[in-house]
Order: sequence, then structure tokens, then C-alpha cells
Amino acid sequence: INAMAPKQDLINKNVLITAGPTIEAIDPVRFLSNRSTGKMGYALSEAAKSRGANVTLISGPTALKAPAGVEVISVTSAEEMYNRVMEHFKQNEIIIKSAAVSDYRPEIKAINKLKKQEGPLQINLVRNPDILYELGLNKGSKKIIGFAAETDNIIEYAKAKVAKKNLDLIVANDLTEEGSGFGSDTNAVYLIDSSYNIIKIDKMSKLDISHRILDKILDL
Ligand code: CTP
Ligand code: CA
Repeated sequence: INAMAPKQDLINKNVLITAGPTIEAIDPVRFLSNRSTGKMGYALSEAAKSRGANVTLISGPTALKAPAGVEVISVTSAEEMYNRVMEHFKQNEIIIKSAAVSDYRPEIKAINKLKKQEGPLQINLVRNPDILYELGLNKGSKKIIGFAAETDNIIEYAKAKVAKKNLDLIVANDLTEEGSGFGSDTNAVYLIDSSYNIIKIDKMSKLDISHRILDKILDL
């Protein structure tokens, strides 16, 4: 037995993970999006797979290679991610939503490339569905884990999201901390459960953070 082999404590568990940004088309050439690179969700997928889980990864556009043995479903917009997540929700007992879903999309997607005009351009934005909130409404015995990316009042905002979205756990990211957040290979987070127990995880690789998150999920 290899002492370095990860523990096999997720065998036969179906785990659904979302990762990356979503992009919202303005016209065939332009889009709105955010700074997510998908590194956290891909690291989580790799960690869960290495512990024996059956992993489905629903991913927005990223430059990353899928971890071996993980089923990847590629999506672009929030609405597409919503549809794919709802299709896969039932057969998964652990759902981890690390994706940075666009909160808004342009009301109208122009069929042809918009031409520039004199003066400013106004684009009307409408709300996207909150995927995690919808999952929380129907969660039953499933474990639902969200992320919160914040620049201020991190604990307070993250606690509010746990309650509002009926989550079992939230992984709160302080975007102002060095070596943390979008694009970084490391992260520093708080894990906050539904009883508001808080675990602070200091800066470490996103893969190591992923294992801490999975340990906590198995402890819930
Ligand atoms: N989320 C989601 N669907 C959305 C927006 C967010 O499923 N349309 C999920 C994210 O995947 C994340 C969690 O909700 O797990 C929190 O996302 P975040 O952007 O931090 O919170 P919001 O509820 O969107 O609030 P705000 O952006 O105003 O802070
Ligand atoms: Ca948001």
C-alpha cells in the first residue's frame, strides 16, 4: 500500500461540480463575463476523483485540461449551466458550485455584430437564474456547497448566503488577500457551515484546499 495514496472515502459517491465563469453574449463578437479561470473547480474535481468519487464537472469556458476520469460538460452561458445542472441534480448526492455565474445577461443578444455609433452605448441587463438558490429549495438529503467571492464584509456576506440559499457549507474567498481568488494557484478561504461554525484555511494550493473542503463535507 502506498502511504501517499489519497484515502478512498468518496467511493460510489456521485459528485457534481461546477467551475469557471459563464459568458453572456452581447453579439456574435462580444460578451460579458468575469475573472474566474476555473482553477478551484478543476482542483476540486481532481481531488474528489482521486478519493474515488464519480465526478461530473459542468464547466464554463476555461483554458484548463479536464482531470483524468472526470466527465466534463462544457457550457457557455448561465442559462445553459442552469439547464445542465438541473438535468444532473437528481443523480448526485454532493453538489459543489464553485462556478462564478454571471448575475446578469444582456436582455437582447444581437444577431449581427453591433456597429459603433456616436456617443455612448446602453445595454440593458436582466437577471440570470440563481442556480444555487434553486438547488437549495429542493435539496432533500443532498449536500449542497456554495462559494462566495467577496471583497469586503466577507464573513457577514457569506453567512447570509448560507442562510438564503439553504446551503450545508459555503467556501468564502477574500478577493483582496494576496495569493487568493481568481487565477491564483493558491487560495485562502473560510469554511462556514449552516450552524455558522467557521474554519479558517490559510494560504495553500487549490488542490490542498480542495481536500480540506472534501474533509469538511464528509464531516457534515
Ligand atoms: N450562483 C449561482 N447562480 C447565480 C449566481 C451565483 O448558482 N446566478 C452561486 C455561485 O456558483 C456561488 C454562490 O452562488 O456558489 C455565490 O455566488 P456569489 O456571486 O458570491 O453570490 P450571489 O448570490 O450572486 O451574490 P452577489 O454576487 O451579489 O454577492
Ligand atoms: Ca454573483
